[in-house]
Amino acid sequence: AKVQPGRSVWRSPSNLAIVKYWGKHGRQLPRNPSISFTLDRAYTETEVAYAPKKGADRGIALDFYFDGSPNEAFAKKVKAFLESITEIFPFLNQLDWTIRSTNSFPHSSGIASSASSMSALALCLCTIEDELFGTLSDDDTFRQKASYVARLGSGSASRSVYAGLALWGEMGEVPGSSDLYAIPMANQVHEVFKTYHDAILIVSKGEKSVSSRAGHGLMESNIYATNRYQQARQHMHDLLSALRTGDEDHFGRILESEALTLHALMMASNPPYILMQPHTITLINKVQAYRKETGHPLYFSLDAGPNLHLFFPDRIKEEVENFIHAELVPYCEDGRWIADKVGKGPLQL
Ligand code: PMV
Repeated sequence: AKVQPGRSVWRSPSNLAIVKYWGKHGRQLPRNPSISFTLDRAYTETEVAYAPKKGADRGIALDFYFDGSPNEAFAKKVKAFLESITEIFPFLNQLDWTIRSTNSFPHSSGIASSASSMSALALCLCTIEDELFGTLSDDDTFRQKASYVARLGSGSASRSVYAGLALWGEMGEVPGSSDLYAIPMANQVHEVFKTYHDAILIVSKGEKSVSSRAGHGLMESNIYATNRYQQARQHMHDLLSALRTGDEDHFGRILESEALTLHALMMASNPPYILMQPHTITLINKVQAYRKETGHPLYFSLDAGPNLHLFFPDRIKEEVENFIHAELVPYCEDGRWIADKVGKGPLQL
């Protein structure tokens, strides 16, 4: 029977790693386990539509729209990714595809969209497979497959398919953990972390001078790599205990150490590079001074870029937001920051 046209739409969030994934091998396999908070307001919405194939060509037929307009650069990347997963989804070659994607955060706001976009795409493809072949699986199996597929698109995207906290990478002490996909950890954390906030301070919207892909690659020749992977495992072990017991200061110390280590590794790469900017450092100094003065557990993280992520519990939200407005906004590009928080995970639309 001829396939009827169909579609799948998912909204999937970005995430922020506490213990960072930095360094990979093989086919997107991590050199160390990582764990992240799934975000709420920073997300991608993706619609994947399919129809019977019109042309006779054997390859993937794809139209790609970003924010409503055809986007050749993105189309090329997505097509290459789809081509790389045809052994998982052979039907990709047999239909015509139209993909439309938008982000809740402005494009090139300095917020990485690979985690949200790749997880949204993976969720759509897994849903379509279920619909076409009736392989309807339970939610756990479905998410695990989506996480596996998302990982092949962008390692960090594997963690975006779950609510709250997600862990990716084999970790002896965590049953079920794997290098191939992420697993949910939300049930293994203290209540206080379930309503944590992440205020994203936009220091620069500009494109990064060195991509994550190149950054991972440079880890292969980084003279500190082995020690780093050991440290990440130790951090993960300590962090899991802090998350369980609700030890916010221990959590925060690991959070900041991971952020600064990530950037130290960049500076120690060959060739070395710096993604922090002067305002990144100013903001870090201000956050640490605020913590000293007030005793509030306000800690920062960084992604592979200059923007600062501030983590804090819900009970001090008002004080922290006042502090952001009074003292930090002047160091944000165009005064921009995003009040995000731990999110509920992807949503099928
Ligand atoms: O998923 P990638 O290849 O874009 O790598 C992301 C790496 C970091 O965001 C810096 C850390 C992480 O674990 O998300």
